[in-house]
Amino acid sequence: MSEHVTIFEVAPRDGLQNEPAMIATADKVRLVNLLSACGFTRIEVASFVSPKWVPQMADAADVMASIERRKGVSYAALTPNLRGFEAAQAAGVDEVAIFASASEGFSRANINCSVAESLERFGPVAEAARAAAVPLRGYISCVTDCPFDGPTDPEKVAEVAAKLLAMGCHEISLGDTIGAGTPNTVARMLDTVLTSVPANRLAGHYHDTGGRALDNIRVSLDRGLRVFDASAGGLGGCPYAPGAKGNVATEAVVELVESLGFGTGIDRKRLAEAAAFARKLRTVG
Ligand code: HMG
Ligand code: MG
Repeated sequence: MSEHVTIFEVAPRDGLQNEPAMIATADKVRLVNLLSACGFTRIEVASFVSPKWVPQMADAADVMASIERRKGVSYAALTPNLRGFEAAQAAGVDEVAIFASASEGFSRANINCSVAESLERFGPVAEAARAAAVPLRGYISCVTDCPFDGPTDPEKVAEVAAKLLAMGCHEISLGDTIGAGTPNTVARMLDTVLTSVPANRLAGHYHDTGGRALDNIRVSLDRGLRVFDASAGGLGGCPYAPGAKGNVATEAVVELVESLGFGTGIDRKRLAEAAAFARKLRTVG
């Protein structure tokens, strides 16, 4: 049997969060339902964040309440604080994520505090997740480059990753938030992070702004990573990272990893349908 690569589908969250025009809740629900039928085992549905910061995610609870939950699929959401965690719990989210940055500029722009403060603030969320036995994911943004601070020191990524792991995250997702990473910078970053976190606890989250996300996935596969975040239809960006348009398209990731001999469990025909629908929801670019 071929070795498995897990694709963590993020279109409903990372794909849609940046859309300036409000997308109807029913369309978000339809997207999640189409994705649930593709064979994904993990889908990031929404964020329980401040609606002042990310208006597009204001209907997170409604989306969660309306989706058809398929057995075997874990429905995930971002939770920056206890308030978000509690709302996510009430909505029946299966996996929550805290999101830190390896760079100070992006941390301030995205969550309004320093990296150290953010880790302190995530403590209670991690504690609550542990108490409720909810799997906790940790994101690190700007793992190679920051739109505000320039290139990121790989040691800083390793330091934040180790702290998130110690806090109880079962997996650390490494975000090339603005898609500026190259196979060289991603490899250098991974080689450093891997000295403190094993490959089986890491995921690659590469935006494709620079057109190099697939190359960056290749170097990550070479280093043992087997979980990749991707967005059907290539939707996505981050409202607090100028130029962050475009998560790597799930269709392209499935094609790449399967061509390299890995299994994904994804039904490509259904994925094409979901991706076509996702693209229709795009209101910019
Ligand atoms: P703040 O302004 O520093 O703190 O925001 P606050 O506590 O004063 O909260 C501001 C307002 O939001 C208050 O309302 C709170 O009540 C409310 P007001 O009193 O002004 O009416 N609030 C909430 N409302 C609903 N749910 C909550 C919540 N918390 C507070 N959970 C905060 C700090 C962290 C809340 C804010 O900065 C925030 O929500 N940021 C989220 C930004 C975000 O979601 N960014 C996109 C996701 S990260 C990403 O895309 C990167 C990733 O894809 C990886 C990569 O690509 O690198 C993951
Ligand atoms: Mg992202």
